[in-house]
Amino acid sequence: MIPRQETVTFSEMETLQYGARIGSTLTPGTVVALSGPLGSGKTTLVKGIARSLGISTAVTSPTFTIIQEYQGIMPLYHMDLYRIDSLEEFDLLGAEEFFYDQGVTVIEWSEKISSILPSTTIHISCRIEQDQSRTITVGEAS
Ligand SMILES: Nc1ncnc2c1ncn2[C@@H]1O[C@H](COP(=O)(O)OP(=O)(O)O)[C@@H](O)[C@H]1O
Ligand SMILES: [Mg+2]
Repeated sequence: MIPRQETVTFSEMETLQYGARIGSTLTPGTVVALSGPLGSGKTTLVKGIARSLGISTAVTSPTFTIIQEYQGIMPLYHMDLYRIDSLEEFDLLGAEEFFYDQGVTVIEWSEKISSILPSTTIHISCRIEQDQSRTITVGEAS
């Protein structure tokens, strides 16, 4: 388990850069679970991760498509489960197999499927502070 680490970002650019830093440490087969409310910076982190994987296609919020696939130095599977209401609904997508693929899977609203995430999942939570800065916590509270 990764030791818990908190980082505060003060702009979109800083969140993007922090995402790129996280991305540069990821190895094939890693699942990254992003939790936190709407607007807290999850998609921005994914954009940074994509950049560090050499993906030049613009990463958008795949709210309606649920899963978006990008090709970089390894595949990136970006899932946004905002519109998923239950684990059963997620199961119907057949998307769990991506977790065990040789790509990086990054999941927004991962709290909705927490019970089926691999034990090696990297957990990242995002929080909006009153001054609009974002607190990004990597690793789980112990
Ligand atoms: N540290 C920050 N300070 C201010 N705005 C930020 C910060 N990080 C990200 N943002 C902005 O917050 C907005 C929502 O971010 P987004 O990544 O789409 O959130 P989410 O995917 O969690 O809904 C974006 O416009 C983004 O530019
Ligand atoms: Mg988002």
